[in-house]
Parts: sequence; structure tokens; C-alpha cells
Amino acid sequence: MDIEVLNGLLRPKAIAVIGASNAPGKIGYTVVKNLIDSNYQGDIYPINPGSDEILGLKAYPSVLDVPGDIDAAAVVVPAKYVPDVTAQCGQKGVKGLIIIASGFSEVGFTDLEERVVNTAREHGMRVLGPNIVGILSNSDSCNASFAPFLPLPGKAALVSQSGALLIAMDAATYTRRVGFDKLVSIGNMSDVNFADMVEWLGQDENTACISLYIEGLKNGPKFIQAARDAGKPIIALKSGVSAHGAAAAASHTGSLAGSGQVYDAAFQQAGVVRAADLNNLFDRTLALSLQPPMQGDNLLIVTNGGGVGVLATDAAERYGLPLRFAPEDVQEELKKHMPAFGSAKNPVDLTGMAGMDWYQGSTRYAFAHDWVDGLVVLYCETAMTDPVEIAQGIKQAIDESGITDKPVVVSFVGGEQSAEARRWLVEHGIPAYDAPDMAINAIAALREYARNTAEATTPFQRHADVDEAKAREIIAKVRAENSTSLTEVESKVIFEAYGLPVATTRLATSEDEAVKTAEAIGYPVVMKIMSPDILHKSDAGGVKVDIQDEASVREAYTTILANAKAYKADAHILGIAIQEMAPWGTEVILGSIADPTFGPTVMFGLGGIFVEILKDVTFRVAPVSADQGMTMINAIKGAPILKGARGEEPGDLQALSEVLSRYSQMIHELGDEIQESDANPVIVYPEGKGVKVVDARIILKEK
Ligand code: COA
Repeated sequence: MDIEVLNGLLRPKAIAVIGASNAPGKIGYTVVKNLIDSNYQGDIYPINPGSDEILGLKAYPSVLDVPGDIDAAAVVVPAKYVPDVTAQCGQKGVKGLIIIASGFSEVGFTDLEERVVNTAREHGMRVLGPNIVGILSNSDSCNASFAPFLPLPGKAALVSQSGALLIAMDAATYTRRVGFDKLVSIGNMSDVNFADMVEWLGQDENTACISLYIEGLKNGPKFIQAARDAGKPIIALKSGVSAHGAAAAASHTGSLAGSGQVYDAAFQQAGVVRAADLNNLFDRTLALSLQPPMQGDNLLIVTNGGGVGVLATDAAERYGLPLRFAPEDVQEELKKHMPAFGSAKNPVDLTGMAGMDWYQGSTRYAFAHDWVDGLVVLYCETAMTDPVEIAQGIKQAIDESGITDKPVVVSFVGGEQSAEARRWLVEHGIPAYDAPDMAINAIAALREYARNTAEATTPFQRHADVDEAKAREIIAKVRAENSTSLTEVESKVIFEAYGLPVATTRLATSEDEAVKTAEAIGYPVVMKIMSPDILHKSDAGGVKVDIQDEASVREAYTTILANAKAYKADAHILGIAIQEMAPWGTEVILGSIADPTFGPTVMFGLGGIFVEILKDVTFRVAPVSADQGMTMINAIKGAPILKGARGEEPGDLQALSEVLSRYSQMIHELGDEIQESDANPVIVYPEGKGVKVVDARIILKEK
């Protein structure tokens, strides 16, 4: 990333408005007026061949006539003029273009967009947009957009793919009391994309939290890397996760929305927190921009009302932070700050009698206690207390605790006075909500951030003992045969080249060879038909298991061939695979897809009927470390089965996580060739006994 060029684009010291106009109602008028009204301190150069003066500023026929340097040019002329204007900007030495004009790839004019970007690149310029609202920044007093005003000041930055949504959110920052330093409209992302913005905002001193509205990413792996490196919380609202929604998003921005599950996985790997909807994006942004991450699972709730306490308890379970009772010593101390009929467990119920002293005493003590990883304080408006005073008391107690590395979130439920108390709290750095559920959701975001960051920092270590050349040799052979589908035997050779423990499998093309192979492998064996035309071998009667001796091999050989002929008379039969018979264990499945946004992506789940019916699977963008493999194993609902539920022996999860890591390396390194693959079933044996890939399949990309 060229920081200096992006600084010119995003924090310009001089802006030209190309297409500036004196006609109110035109965007070229509004952008100039907004720059003036926002008290922009840099130079503003209106560009219009027909005017000498616009809104009291000297206007120029073209950027080439401007005497001073120009950092950024806001482009508000119709699309067809944009290529010429871009060339002029390049000649002038402009650093970046804010192309507000629409009429490019979003309506099919991809060539026009490419021409603009290519011209910009030739001159070392960066392009934001086209099809955007513009950029807004409080710290730079810069409203270079046609959004009505700068947002409520704060520490967050919003990057939005939808311009209309950005305008709506701009106004809503005031009603929802969530402060932003910057709003950036990113539109068609012809050049500057989410990864660039995350990288740039990561080093921006005025941004504490990055909020994203995403319809589709253009370069998934680059985004993951940028998010991991940003070193500050990132929260994403991803639309287009439903099949219908994805189609709407594609037609809206000309970008492809990836499948919801892969986005989920990628965000987790990138340390990105998800928002469920627009309101949730605001609520969570508030918490992430004001409070530190929650480093452990111990959440303590202090309340003056049993009802909101129970609602919060339910919400805590819903958002993945189930409550635990506080330890005895904590309970003993907390009892000093409540009447005899209060409860010191968790939630800590100070009762409706709670006044300032009890709120302060309990929160000061609880927040400083090592057991507490995060605190939620709930308050129901009562006639005996002043909400604003309670709010001030809570803030004072938090400050006096001396703790700054764990989060506190508050919910004040009531009327106007509670609303005032919430405003006061937010202004003083404590996120405050009007419902207990939202407060819990907000602190859950701070927990998710800490959890996801831990996963994001587990580095992948490449396994060096692999034979990539051997794998590519097999692929080349299959390509030479004009096929994209590898047989089980071919697939297993590639798996073996990546150190994956496959059940030994050899192809036999005659009955005698079958006998010899079975003897070499050792009885019992499994025999399977090998034919590119028979994918579901069992359905075709093409599989025989537990074959114990020579006579049975000969019999199975004849029967399988006859069954295959009966199933599909013209099937091309390559032979019969003889395979080591793997003992029984817990069945799991490993799979991979080539995701259009994120590239090779690995899937893991319980095998057999669990995968088909329960779809209990999890994804990660490849490659993953063995630690991340372990996170995947723990992420499925069926994890307890693998860990030895109900007296079963625990499975060899170390071996399984290693296999996941190697498998992910295989699909990553061969990502230019492999379209999809699976290892199904993989049998997991008890601890120390390893795992075995029983069946394997690789499908190549069409080229
Ligand atoms: N250099 C400088 N000024 C030029 C010019 C050039 N090469 N060519 C034309 N102009 C002037 C025009 O003369 C006009 O000024 P005037 O009012 O003094 O006559 C001004 O630039 C604007 O051009 P005009 O043709 O009147 O266009 P417009 O204002 O009706 O529309 C856009 C221009 C860019 C706003 C419009 O094409 C557009 O894309 N609108 C959609 C914007 C949008 O929604 N963005 C995405 C949000 S999500």
C-alpha cells in the first residue's frame, strides 16, 4: 500500500471538484457547499469550463489550470466524460479520484470503468468508487460528499459499499448516538477495496474501530490478511447471505457475494466480528469503539431489577456467554452492598432499593476482581433514584477501580431521564443501551473480538515433508487424458504426497492381480469398482468389504464386474481397487471447495448420516494450522462425540487436527488445479491411534 497516495486521497489537503456547479440541486453544487459548510481547511478548487466563480470560490476550466497542487479530485461529471477528466488529473499529478458519478460496472459498463482505472494507474493515482457518495471526516472537517452533514463525532470509521445506506447511517449517528470519525463510500471498488481501506484505517490515528457494510469482497485472502494486521476491532455487516439476497447484491454492485458460511469462516479467521443487522452494527460499533476486548468468559451482571437480570441472563446464553456463579469471596463482599433479600450470585441483584452507594460499592469491587472478565450494569428507573446521578456514580466507581483493560457495558431502562443518563455515559466512554439484551449483545461482541483475534493470530506452519511435484505429476497425467476427475487411487497418491494417512489402495486389472495385491496388503481387504462412469459405487453393487481369503477375492472380482455391467452397460471400467480394510471408529468428513471470493476452503464435519442430514460442518479458508484445525473440530455441534461422550474413548484429535492442517495445505498449494475434493469417510481412532482416510476424491478445475 502506498500510504502517501492513499493519504492524499483520503485526507486531502487540497480538493478539486470536477463538475462543480452553481445550480442548487446538482450534486456538483452540493459537494462544493458541503466542503465549505464542513469548515474544510484545505484548498477547494471548483472545476467547470463555463463558470468563473462557484459558491464564492474561483472556478477553473480544468484541473490543468489550477495553480496549486491537488491531492484529491471529486468527480461529479457524467460517466462518459470521466476518462478524459482522469487523464487530465493524471497529468496534473492528482493523487486520488473520488468518483461519485454512476454509470459504470454497476450497470454493465465495465469497459468504461476499466479504462478509467487503467488511466489512473498509469499515473500512479488511486480511485475510490465509482458510484459513491464520497468521503466524510470529522478530524479533517471534510465533507467531500453529497451526504447532508458530517456524522456525530466519535472514534469509529464506517466503510460502506452502498452509498444510500451510508447517507442513511450518517443521519442515524445522531439519533442513535454512535460517533464516527469517518464515513467512506466505496461503491464499485474498481481500485480501492475493503482490504485497502482496512489496511489504511488500521494505521489511522483517529480510528479506534472499523465498521464495514459489505455486499461482496473482491479479494478475500487479501482482506483476511489486512484485517489480521489491522490491530483494531473490525465489525462487518454482510448482506446477500440468502440465495435471493446474493442475487440482489450482484445486480446492485456488480460484485459476487460469496456463500454465507464461507464468509462466516473467513471473518472468524480474520478476527472480524459480525453484525446481524443495521441496528446491531450501530450497537456493536459503539461497544467496540469505546471499550477494550473481553479476554475471558466470566461475565458479571449487576442489576437493581430481577426482571432485567433474567432477560440479560437469557441473552447471555443466547450470545455465547452463559453466566456462572461468582466465587464465594466475591459473593461475600457483594452482600455488603445490598439488603438481606438481595442476591450476590450472578446476576447480582441489588434490588429496587439500590441507591448510589450500593451501585458504586458493588461495581467498584466487582470490576477490580480478577475473576470478573467483563461487567454489565443494569438499571431500571425508580422514583427513589436519579438516573443521571446513578450513571455518574457508576462511571466514578469504574474509574476508581483503576482497571482499564476489561470492558463495562450498561443498560438503563426507563424514560427521558434514562435516555439522558445513557447519553452522558456514552459521552464519557461507557456504551449504554436501552435494553438489557442489547447490552449483553454488545459485551458479547467484545468477547467475540478477543476470541477471533486469538484464532487469527495462530500462524500456519507449512509442512515441508510433502511431495508437490509428485502430486502435480498425477494431475498432469489426468489432464493429458482429458479428464478432470481423478480416480480414488490417483486421489490417494496425491493425499499420500501430502503426508495424509490413507488406507492403502491399489488397482488390479485382473483376477490374479487382485489376489496378489490382496495378499501384499494383507487380509481382510475391501474391493471397489474403479470407473469414471460410476460415482456411487455402493449403489451399483460395486463394493465388497471384509474379504478374508483368495477364494473370496476371486468371487468378489467376478460379482463386482457383473454388477457394474448390469448397472451401466457402457461404463468404462478401469479395474478393481483392493484396499486395506480400516477398523471401525468414528467417521468424519473433510472436504474442499474453490470459493470464488476466498479461494481454496476446507470443510470439516462428522461423517455418515450426520453430514447429509444434520449438515454439522464448519469451514475455514485454507491453509489452517493444526491449532486452527482443533478450533474447527471444537466448532461442530458433534464435537463431544469425538471427545468421548457417554463412556466412549476420546478420539485422536491431535492426529485429526494435523490431518486437517495437511489437507488444507494440499488444497492451498494445488489451488490452481483443484476445484473440489473430499476425504469421506475419515476414521478417527482412540487417542494415540491416529486417523485413516478411507476414501478420497479430487475433481480438477475446468481449464
Ligand atoms: N469538467 C468540468 N465540468 C464539467 C465537465 C468537465 N469535463 N463537463 C461538464 N461539466 C459541468 C457541467 O457543465 C455541469 O455544470 P453546470 O451546472 O454549470 O452546467 C456540471 O459539470 C455537472 O454536469 P451535468 O451534465 O449537469 O451533470 P449532472 O449534475 O446532472 O450529473 C452526475 C452528474 C455525476 C451527478 C450524474 O451523472 C450521476 O452519476 N449521478 C448519480 C450519482 C450517484 O448517485 N452516485 C452514487 C451514489 S450511491
